[in-house]
Amino acid sequence: MSNHRSTVITGISELVTNDDANGGVIRDAALVMEGDRIAWVGRAHSAPDADRRVGVEGRALLPGWVDSHTHMVFAGDRTAEFEARMAGEAYAAGGINVTVAATRAASDSELAATLLRLVGEARRGGTTVIETKTGYGLTVADEVRSARVAAEQADAVTFLGAHVVPDGSDPDAYLELVTGPMLEAVADHVSSVDIFCETGAFDETATRRVLEAATARALDVRLHANQLQHGPGVQLAVEYRARSVDHLGFLNDNDIEDLAASWDGGTRGTVATVLPACDLSTRMPLAPARRLLDAGAVLAIASNCNPGTSYTSSMAFCVATAVLQMRLSVREAVRAATLGGAMSLGMHEDGWKDPRGIAQPAVGVIRVGARADLHLLDAPSATHLAYRPGVPVTRAVWRAGVQEV
Ligand code: NIG
Repeated sequence: MSNHRSTVITGISELVTNDDANGGVIRDAALVMEGDRIAWVGRAHSAPDADRRVGVEGRALLPGWVDSHTHMVFAGDRTAEFEARMAGEAYAAGGINVTVAATRAASDSELAATLLRLVGEARRGGTTVIETKTGYGLTVADEVRSARVAAEQADAVTFLGAHVVPDGSDPDAYLELVTGPMLEAVADHVSSVDIFCETGAFDETATRRVLEAATARALDVRLHANQLQHGPGVQLAVEYRARSVDHLGFLNDNDIEDLAASWDGGTRGTVATVLPACDLSTRMPLAPARRLLDAGAVLAIASNCNPGTSYTSSMAFCVATAVLQMRLSVREAVRAATLGGAMSLGMHEDGWKDPRGIAQPAVGVIRVGARADLHLLDAPSATHLAYRPGVPVTRAVWRAGVQEV
């Protein structure tokens, strides 16, 4: 036994583990954590002793949410654009430049304060792992500082210099910058590279150039694709072995089959990430999450928290929407919002490397050896996430064994 203090949590009515070894759920359960890891999981009657006991009196315990797609480094507000959209205007990629102007004008401490507020909000809602992107700086200096600010608080940082061509820039010259000096300057601060492959943002040729440049630096790649209409993004994601392809409102049968086939015979494929709050806030079709799962794709659900298309950090809202409107079961939605996100970030197996190169325990799953990231609901089962939509059901949150909420 190590000298870390251990805690046993008892009285768990439903423990959602995402671990196939126990069918993904244990009823009438207990769990022991020691230091930052889970040390024991099982039925309550056989729980071992520990230094400390926490009784949760018949409540459900889940892995913390893994929010694998956010844009939380920004300044400013786009309420007027949202109001116009609710009055019938369509969303267009160009709105991003409004946030770019506000972000460039903000100080580092203002950007950090906004991020701190959003991370705190997410934590209080049960999120224990957050990915966030650059993409509202779009100069070398502003992208580097966005990445630095992000790295201080987020668990994973993604470079999104290819978010949109900034106002006043020549598209070819900007692409040269993104794939050359800008990528060079941010590479040490990020773990993956993203691109918005969409009309009004970057076409197939430009997307290939960004993917080639990132791959040449051995950075993971991910894409925003098929958000506003059908496009080549899913096929490119599969071809370049992207960690994830996100949005996916417009998919054909080939896209769905190819996403599922990307996992054939291996533990590394392309995660299909759906963003239900964004679909609602942009009045776009809901991504076909049911069809993706039925075809055998690996699904993640994320908040896409950003000021333009999805100004929420609530993973519980996304899960409720996935159940109520995308026709997922509660178990499927919870798995996608925890283990699915972890798979998208490459954090689902013990030994993944953090930015300092240090091996870390798995997240998104509750099993021995995984990180003790736990989300206690003020409800007897995970079903209440969808049964009581909009009600704050988070009772407590532990991150790496430390109670934060
Ligand atoms: O994921 N689609 C591109 N990027 C963001 C939106 C950013 C914005 O409109 O500010 C998204 O929805």
